[in-house]
Amino acid sequence: MLNIHVPGLTGLSAANDGKFPFLDTLMAIDGRTGVRGHGSPMPIWGDRYVASALEDAGFHGSELIVRGRLMALVEYIESIQQ
Ligand code: HEM
Repeated sequence: MLNIHVPGLTGLSAANDGKFPFLDTLMAIDGRTGVRGHGSPMPIWGDRYVASALEDAGFHGSELIVRGRLMALVEYIESIQQ
């Protein structure tokens, strides 16, 4: 059902001189800042995470929850680098 090409995520370090591009990966997934806001097939996960954060957490509270979830995801992606 996924009919567009999506990049593999286990070679990000290899493509970056052996160093995991932590911040770039975080921003690529978050998607709320930088060029991705201007159109990419990938959903803006930062917006999705904000929408799913606890309603009574408030603006600043939800941002902390969103950051925590994004950091956990990026750390996972770092752990599967080949
Ligand atoms: C939890 C799920 C996902 C994660 C963690 C994720 C993560 C990433 C990351 C880190 C990149 C940058 C890769 C690079 O710099 O080489 C990327 C790019 C991309 N992703 Fe995803 N992705 C997810 C789901 C999706 C889905 C569902 C789609 C499409 C429906 C998608 C489409 C793309 C495309 C087309 C690119 C390359 C172009 C661009 O950066 O906009 N991704 N993704």
